[in-house]
Amino acid sequence: MTRPATLRLGFFHQPVGRHPAAWRRAEARGAPEDLASVMAAAQKAEAGLFDVFFLADSLVGPIPNGNGRNGGFEPLTLLSALSLVTSRIGLTATVSTTFSEPFNTARMFASLDHLSAGRAGWNVVTSQSDRAAQNFSQDGLLSHPERYARADEFVQVAKGLWDTWDDGALVMDRERGIFVDQTRVRELAHDGVHFSVRGPLNVSRPPQGHPVIFQAGSSADGIDLAGKSADVAFTAQDTIEDALAYRDALRSASRRHRPTFDGPLIFPGIMPIVGATRAAAHAKFADLQAHTDIAAGIKQLSGRWGYDLSTYDLDGPVPEPGLRIHGESRVRLLLNKARTEGYSLRDLAALAIASHGHRIIVGSYEDIADDLEAWFTAGAADGFNVIPATMPDGLDDFVDLVVPELQRRGLFRTAYEGRTLRENLGLARPA
Ligand SMILES: Cc1cc2nc3c(=O)[nH]c(=O)nc-3n(C[C@H](O)[C@H](O)[C@H](O)COP(=O)(O)O)c2cc1C
Repeated sequence: MTRPATLRLGFFHQPVGRHPAAWRRAEARGAPEDLASVMAAAQKAEAGLFDVFFLADSLVGPIPNGNGRNGGFEPLTLLSALSLVTSRIGLTATVSTTFSEPFNTARMFASLDHLSAGRAGWNVVTSQSDRAAQNFSQDGLLSHPERYARADEFVQVAKGLWDTWDDGALVMDRERGIFVDQTRVRELAHDGVHFSVRGPLNVSRPPQGHPVIFQAGSSADGIDLAGKSADVAFTAQDTIEDALAYRDALRSASRRHRPTFDGPLIFPGIMPIVGATRAAAHAKFADLQAHTDIAAGIKQLSGRWGYDLSTYDLDGPVPEPGLRIHGESRVRLLLNKARTEGYSLRDLAALAIASHGHRIIVGSYEDIADDLEAWFTAGAADGFNVIPATMPDGLDDFVDLVVPELQRRGLFRTAYEGRTLRENLGLARPA
């Protein structure tokens, strides 16, 4: 397995920062549909030489105390706009295979790849909410295995559609009067379980051949899909040990399907709280935690613990989890944190919703660089998906303080290596 010599960076954009209390600070800027602030963020990430600007997505609107989407641009529309004000950073959007069609999706990403001159990426997800299904004329979600079976075929069809045009088939040869060289375009003629697609695609072959495929499933089915089809895997492990176990599972899935491929690059998510000093970072985090909606935290913790915690004393100790817990490794981690740090139920509730499951690193820029270096050198990560807790200062701090420190240590590029997202990630262009 050859690994990149330097680490890669993704920027997971959240309009007002990832921390649930971030938007309530006086310094907070931006709003879900404020294009100027998103453009500024994309340009800042590009100045910091990030590989990828990433947009997550949910197909559910706001719901009380729920995980709906509180406004915001549709990801591919937004990335199309950003393609015009950036020139090097990759542009990755989430599209669910459960609620789309391969033809539409292949067409949109091919189009974005042309607009951006080879910087498009697609984060393939299968969706997790019945509420999403109810926006698409269905009562509830397909089962987990059915969603992943559909996702697998969906991605194969999309890749097939990108291959229905040879490179350069759009010849526009004035002399010979040939617009498209039909000898270099073919039908797909896919007839499968979930899809039947004739093709060819109505967009010529993307500059990258195939836009870069990202996948974030953490279940056995998700790992299998990533191993079979993805170039990059997004994950959310909390310890190097768990990350190495995940890496081994992903590599064996990859070897099963693609024996000659090195395996997807692995990008764990992190929510860094960076300060000029360690004390400043901890003060910033404590302030955010103090402004967190504790009732929402208790609700989430109750779901994980398997029973209602709302009647317990918030300033008392954290009760033992029930018999039917949700998300074993997460519960183990939270409980361990509570016991070793002496957290009250209130503290743990605030922690549970601080980052939506991504690892939180609080410290000086040197502390953050030490942590990332340890993960990278242990082989637990090929890069990191950086989710600023606050915006725009959380991104500014990372770009202005952490990136130069990583560069000083020889861990991060000092200039983009290539023009396309594939080139910067060190991925081969599909033949
Ligand atoms: C960094 C990251 C980003 C994700 N982005 C999305 C997203 O935008 N939309 C979505 O529905 N799920 C998203 N997910 C959830 C995963 O797609 C997946 O559903 C989850 O990790 C559970 O795994 P499983 O579906 O294999 O059970 C994301 C997960 C991670 C780690």
